[in-house]
Amino acid sequence: MPQIRFPQTKNQIVILSCVAVFLWLFSCTPNSPKSLPLAELKRSKESIVVSAHPLASEAGKLMLEKGGNAVDAAVATAFAISVVEPFSAGIGGGGFLLLGTPPENSETQQYKIRALDFRERAPKAATRNMYLNEKGEVEKRASLDGHLAVGVPGTVAGLYNIHKSLGKLPWKELLKPAIRYARDGFELRDDFVSKLEKRLEVINKNPAARDIFTKNGQAYEPGDLLIQTDQAQTLETIAENPQSFYTGKIAQAIATDMAKAGGLITLEDLQNYTPIWREPICGKFRQAKVCAMPPPSSGGVHLLQILNIVGETNLQQWGRENADTIHLLTEAMRVAYADRSLHLGDPDFLEVPVKELTSLSYAQQRRQEISLTKVRRSTEVQPVSPEVLRSNILESPDTTHLTVVDQERNVISMTYTINGSFGAGVVAAGTGILLNNEMDDFAAAPEAPNLYGLVGDEANAIAPRKTPLSSMTPTIVTDNGRLIMATGSPGGSTIITTVLQVILNVLEYKMNVAEAVSAPRFHHQWLPDKLILETGGFGEATVNELKQRGHNVVMQRGWGNANVVFQDESGMLEAAADPRGEGEAMGTGQ
Ligand code: GLY
Repeated sequence: MPQIRFPQTKNQIVILSCVAVFLWLFSCTPNSPKSLPLAELKRSKESIVVSAHPLASEAGKLMLEKGGNAVDAAVATAFAISVVEPFSAGIGGGGFLLLGTPPENSETQQYKIRALDFRERAPKAATRNMYLNEKGEVEKRASLDGHLAVGVPGTVAGLYNIHKSLGKLPWKELLKPAIRYARDGFELRDDFVSKLEKRLEVINKNPAARDIFTKNGQAYEPGDLLIQTDQAQTLETIAENPQSFYTGKIAQAIATDMAKAGGLITLEDLQNYTPIWREPICGKFRQAKVCAMPPPSSGGVHLLQILNIVGETNLQQWGRENADTIHLLTEAMRVAYADRSLHLGDPDFLEVPVKELTSLSYAQQRRQEISLTKVRRSTEVQPVSPEVLRSNILESPDTTHLTVVDQERNVISMTYTINGSFGAGVVAAGTGILLNNEMDDFAAAPEAPNLYGLVGDEANAIAPRKTPLSSMTPTIVTDNGRLIMATGSPGGSTIITTVLQVILNVLEYKMNVAEAVSAPRFHHQWLPDKLILETGGFGEATVNELKQRGHNVVMQRGWGNANVVFQDESGMLEAAADPRGEGEAMGTGQ
């Protein structure tokens, strides 16, 4: 047995102290970032669920333990999020999911991946200029606060649809944990309270929201118990009959509330709501097949566009927190978000040039424009014109994400939202449903930035029944018949670049999933022209080098709340929730 020998003489102590000081100094050289918190890594050979709240993950895990599959777990987790994290997503909002099912023969066949769009839609009475005043100026808060900001919610229809397609357990069973959390209450955590404090003024203007989310107009405190009796009743009604949200008494309550408070959503809008199955957007990065959400999300298009621009560049050799790497990726992000502003919108209303924007030849052309030593201002980088794009036919803050992989290796990667924190800050009276402000994701006017500073044009103009453009990027990565990873994140405009970096961290930098979701992030979205670096994540030398190249560097506290599941060669599942949030991964059979 080796013996540990402690320093005994003064000399030994002095020498050891010097070594310690030297090591400390070395670890604090200008290019050595302070360490950010590291996520917890969970493993399971069987099945795993990861979401933004432990109680929601617990709900999913319970379904897996009852013999349910990934769909059952995802539905239970999503309903639980609606109760324990109502500020981010819920039955008053909408979203997207990717469903992956394994082939019978993983040697010869591909994973089957389908995309479900259950995003909010504009009400029939919505008009192009509905957020402009008499002078033609955008009334900014009108698309963010109150009933006029609300899009027709799709969550209940989406979850029921996915349940019908592959769910194993009875529908009613899936809502039980959420109903329990709503009826018995749960303890509020820091994240909930800090978001509540920021939206308190708006919430206090709506009596139904005020009754639920405040103590006589005052914010709750961490550790307080939140009981949501109305939402519990609504969830019980949905458990009996999901259609009641669209045609029954819940629909009636929403429409009545809207009519009273100047909102646009009618019973007809709710009756007409249907989720849409879409083809995911898939492309190759190295050996892996990366599939993500197609329009009306911009997530998949621009994730692949940026990966294509990276192409064969050996980023691993360059290093992850290296100025060249950050520069190249930033310039690629700048191009992608410029194109987003002109070309992306609801594909049921316009032709979105998906094939062209994700083509390798277009990526090569854009790559050639990027200088590795010189920054281009965003005013110098324009979206590609439709004509040029056509000649290239030679060959996409709040919200939440959850990922589930089951024993058969079915996988759900789902991002859903009520848009801004606490959505529109209004609850449909008597239902407990906190309603979204997704209408803000439309371009209220050309060049008018939304909540996330994103600008848009004609392609994302408001029209009746149209779907607002999104950045949500639920993603599944496979290698032929084998699942490699599934991931996604909230974060508005930053979603695409967060997902991009998590994927690169795993595929290119060979990080485990805990490291991959924890690693420092950066973001650029064309306009505003700034490179945002995560505070505490990058060394001084790297930051200075980027500034010298001309980047408008802005330091910001961490953003996003990604989660990820990875499957290694032996079939072991590994999952982690972003340490910037309060989520948790939970595996079965441990
Ligand atoms: N509401 C944020 C997004 O869909 O991108």
